Amino acid sequence: MAETVLTSADLVAPLFVAEGLSAPHPISSLPGQFQHTVDSLLNEVGLHLTNGVNAFMLFGVPLTKDDQGSGAWDPNGITQVALRELKAHFGHDVVLMADLCLDEYTSHGHCGVLTAQGTVDNDATIALYAQVAIAQAQAGANVVAPSGMMDGQVLAIRQGLDSAGFDDTAILAYSAKYASAFYGPFREAVQVKIADGGDRRAYQQDYRNRREGLREALADIEQGADMVMVKPAMSYLDVLSDIAANVDVPVSAYHVSGEYAMIKAAGERGWIDAPRVALEQLTSVKRAGANFILTYFANEIAEGLKR
Ligand code: PBG
Repeated sequence: MAETVLTSADLVAPLFVAEGLSAPHPISSLPGQFQHTVDSLLNEVGLHLTNGVNAFMLFGVPLTKDDQGSGAWDPNGITQVALRELKAHFGHDVVLMADLCLDEYTSHGHCGVLTAQGTVDNDATIALYAQVAIAQAQAGANVVAPSGMMDGQVLAIRQGLDSAGFDDTAILAYSAKYASAFYGPFREAVQVKIADGGDRRAYQQDYRNRREGLREALADIEQGADMVMVKPAMSYLDVLSDIAANVDVPVSAYHVSGEYAMIKAAGERGWIDAPRVALEQLTSVKRAGANFILTYFANEIAEGLKR
């Protein structure tokens, strides 16, 4: 009689693929998660498929970075290489989503290119995002997922994709993305350090604000977003619930690196029953209105649900 039941079909697994690795590299702040080689990525995706998880959010970790983040749109950039291999191996059995941002690729670690004054240049950045989207679509992405929180990014990407003939490539917008301390472990995973002790508060949202979340989601839908996201998840269930009640596109939430790491760490100490806490949290995210959830627990939870 339960109202809300989590299933493997609700889950999207974020996965990291790094350039120049000879073996998968464990991410110490995300126990059980790896920077993958292209080969180990194929294997990992195969494991997820056997547990009923067939959607993936891909993050590339390049060997070299520059001030423009050019690896993000290079046809031979690591994300594009991985997308091509995954599509070749798994075809229509997988939904491939590509995180679309510059921070993994820029030497200064910001989500966009900088002005001479060192601030993020919104409009120059969204033009580059359109190029990234085209490169990802060309390589086989079914969904591109802009996560940089630049104003106008969805429209720029939609126009870029359409002009290159990728009308069918969908956009999942990280719409209500808060400037959050919960992304800590992720920065290790993608080896990003923001220059000069900087942060993302100029472009991500202020967690003291609730109504802005819905406003951002509506703006993205107006610009052509096919799906929207709230991020992080647990501390933002009010925002998620507002958005779910007010939009007519699929809504997702990202249970982020810090949320995963805290459960893992407390579980390792025997302070909580980690798998049960994870299931409770993710079910709550669905109950609050998420139609799908991005989580590093995807494979583990899906495997547990089979039993
Ligand atoms: C930006 C991006 C970030 C995350 C996903 N995409 C980091 C950031 O905005 O600083 C965080 C994901 C997580 O913490 O699990 N490319």
